[in-house]
Amino acid sequence: MTDLRPVTQDDIDALVRLEAICFPGDRLTRARFLDLLRRPSAAFIGAPAAVTGAGATGLAGYALILFRRGSRVARLYSIAVDPEARGRGLGRRLMEAAVDLARQRGADLLRLEVRVDNPSAIALYRALGFHDFATRRDYYDDGTDALRFEKALV
Ligand SMILES: CC(C)(COP(=O)(O)OP(=O)(O)OC[C@H]1O[C@@H](n2cnc3c(N)ncnc32)[C@H](O)[C@@H]1OP(=O)(O)O)[C@@H](O)C(=O)NCCC(=O)NCCS
Repeated sequence: MTDLRPVTQDDIDALVRLEAICFPGDRLTRARFLDLLRRPSAAFIGAPAAVTGAGATGLAGYALILFRRGSRVARLYSIAVDPEARGRGLGRRLMEAAVDLARQRGADLLRLEVRVDNPSAIALYRALGFHDFATRRDYYDDGTDALRFEKALV
């Protein structure tokens, strides 16, 4: 199986495409991706399309983790897998890599928000040992609440 790989500015079209086909709203824009790609506090993990043969987009999925100086809490800011590539363990691999990376960068805790109406993602997080600890009301553009999940890394 092809390895996961870093994401660079050359992947910007693939990131924007994934965002468009994976999220109905609250999408990261091209400008935001380009900004994040330049920041040392943002870490992207990419799944090459070759992993699953999901077309010629260059990326079948990605995960994005944010770090804050002076904080041991890392944040999984986004994760997405091409619909054509789902259900084959790619989301799990990306999440496991995100956990490893957060640990390597010294985080004690990895946190994330997820829509309350996103059972696939919620099942993935629970399967990897995350638990929900709070709700954020009216968190998304359309007023949907977020569940906050976390996993201790130590
Ligand atoms: C969530 C997402 C990343 C999962 O990716 P994936 O590659 O299909 O996930 P995997 O095949 O690795 O599945 C891993 C586990 O997640 C859970 N899971 C994934 N899809 C599921 C589904 N449709 N229904 C129930 N559980 C699901 C299961 O626990 C699964 O383990 P199993 O296969 O042993 O049952 C993908 O559905 C996606 O990109 N969704 C749109 C973007 C999104 O919602 N991102 C999260 C925002 S917070």
